Amino acid sequence: MKTPKDTKLLRVLFSEDQIRRRVEDLARQISSDYADKGEVLLVGVLKGAFIFLADLCRRMTVPRRVDFIAVSSYGDRTVSSGNVRLVLDLRGDIRGRHVLVVEDIVDTGSTLAYLLDLLRLRGPASVRTCAFLRKEKGGPPVDYVGFEVADEWVVGYGLDYADDYRTLPHIAILQVNR
Ligand code: IMP
Repeated sequence: MKTPKDTKLLRVLFSEDQIRRRVEDLARQISSDYADKGEVLLVGVLKGAFIFLADLCRRMTVPRRVDFIAVSSYGDRTVSSGNVRLVLDLRGDIRGRHVLVVEDIVDTGSTLAYLLDLLRLRGPASVRTCAFLRKEKGGPPVDYVGFEVADEWVVGYGLDYADDYRTLPHIAILQVNR
C-alpha cells in the first residue's frame, strides 16, 4: 500500500473487537426502534461508511434494504471545505420509506446537513441518522452514534486520509504533518 510520506499512525483507538461489539449494540438498538415500521432503507454515505454499513446491516434483524450516495467535501485535506457536492445519487426512490443515513464519522456536520436537506425534499416517511464516530465538537444531533472521538484525524474501518488507510481493520489516530 502506498502511504503518504507526511503521515504516521500514532495509536489504535478502537480494536476490531471493540468495533464488533459496538456495531452489535447499534444493530440491536436500531432493530428494536424500527420493529414496527415495516422496512428500513439504509443509505450508506460513500466511501467511508461502506465497511460499517456492511457490518451493521448484517447484524440487524428487521427487514432492510441498502442504497448508497456519495458526496465530497474534503479532497485530500483534513479540513472540511464546507462545500458539499453530490458525487453519486441513490439508485432508488425514497418516497414513503423509512430512511436511515449511515455515515462513517460526523465532524462539522456539513455533510449530514446537506444530505438531510436533499433527502427530506424527496418525501420519505422518516429520516434518521447513524454515525459510527462523532467528533466531540458539537455538530448536529445524530440519532445513533457508535463512539465519540476527540478532534483528531482517524483512519481505518472505512475512514481514509487521501484515500489511504481505509482497509485497516481497526481505527487508529493519524498524525498529519503539514
Ligand atoms: P463533516 O461534513 O465535516 O461532518 O465531515 C464528514 C465527512 O468528513 C465524513 O463522512 C468523512 O468522510 C470525513 N471525515 C471527517 N473527519 C474525518 C476523520 O477524522 N477521518 C476520516 N474522515 C473524516
